[in-house]
Amino acid sequence: MLDKFPLKTLEEIAAKAGTPVYVYSADVLLRQVRAYRKAFPEALICYAMKANSSGALCRLLAREGLGADVVSGGELFRALRAGFRADRIVFSGVGKTAAELDLALSRKVLLINVESAQELDALEAAARRRGVMARVSVRINPDIDPKTHKFISTGRSGTKFGVSFAEAEIMFRRAAASEWLFPSGAHMHLGSQIHSAAPYRQAAAAMSAFVKRLAAAGIKLSYVDMGGGWGAREGAEMAPPAALARALAPAAALDGATLVIEPGRSIAAPAGLLLARVLYTKKSGRKDFLVVDAAMNDLMRPAFYGSRHPIVPLRPRRGSAGRFEVVGPVCESGDFIGTDVRLPRPEPGDLLAVLSAGAYGMSMSSNYNSRPRAAEVLVAGRSWKVVRRRETDLDLVRQEC
Ligand SMILES: Cc1ncc(COP(=O)(O)O)c(C=O)c1O
Repeated sequence: MLDKFPLKTLEEIAAKAGTPVYVYSADVLLRQVRAYRKAFPEALICYAMKANSSGALCRLLAREGLGADVVSGGELFRALRAGFRADRIVFSGVGKTAAELDLALSRKVLLINVESAQELDALEAAARRRGVMARVSVRINPDIDPKTHKFISTGRSGTKFGVSFAEAEIMFRRAAASEWLFPSGAHMHLGSQIHSAAPYRQAAAAMSAFVKRLAAAGIKLSYVDMGGGWGAREGAEMAPPAALARALAPAAALDGATLVIEPGRSIAAPAGLLLARVLYTKKSGRKDFLVVDAAMNDLMRPAFYGSRHPIVPLRPRRGSAGRFEVVGPVCESGDFIGTDVRLPRPEPGDLLAVLSAGAYGMSMSSNYNSRPRAAEVLVAGRSWKVVRRRETDLDLVRQEC
């Protein structure tokens, strides 16, 4: 994957923009979009903003005609600012506030994916206050195991997401009877990093049966939203989405309804890497440590859900390879970027690229340990530019009063 980024360019970025720095490839990003387009020519593809909400990337995706899946008022703001059309935005999330529901109505987003009966009441109240009809989609929890890490598994009963089919049916009937609600879509999202089409096949069959049952009861939906989650293994681009399209075919073939999908990670992950510099090498017990200048506040995934990102030196040194714990400066034993990583033995000052870091990297980053957030750089062909400057110490205290 490193070959997607010219070596000289990466070295120049590290020298001029500093490290740690997220580097994104516009070419790789757009290649994923086109693969989705080819596999889903009829569907509305709503990029899941949470994967990476950087304005520069989102502007590229909006220009490609994608819609957006947002989960907060802040993401809705950023989606609109990046140029995503409101009528291609779906608003998901288990805890939308009254203010967020009102914002979604005021901006006329395509669908509001409601996740509980009480949220449906709140949406009805918001619509009544505004004097508009709200287009409702209900998020269904189909109780399907996507066989992924439990922190990114959302389609099982017992998680906080969505409602059962039985409850969804009651909610749709209630929406159909309301003067302020219009039943417009049904939604599912099984989880993230799903590498098999099987759970999608199961979900599409269940969704199809449900939507047909609703139609027979006189409630005809216009959108069937099957969520995101198609995996991209660390160090690789996503598996061809044609397999996903085949699995979702039953949900795409529902009389007059438009299929919506919400890919995030599979689009953004392969397009980004995190560049870090080795600060020190040390031994503790039998382990060899590389202390680098990127930490869990920059890339939380390894500590949070045990993800393994390939870590490669920009200029591998000759000589023996070793196995290293690649750790950051944050004061937590859980602060690691990679564990048991095989590498040619690096020296302080060497640059390492942490691959597949374009999704849930910068968007999950924090200021923990009062570390200013990293810069972001976009590479297009041989040129590059900083698209988010590195935070300064002053940024750390700017909101304090
Ligand atoms: C509702 C919803 N849609 C789409 C996604 C995107 O998932 P992924 O980035 O794995 O494609 C998520 C991720 O959490 C989500 O919660």
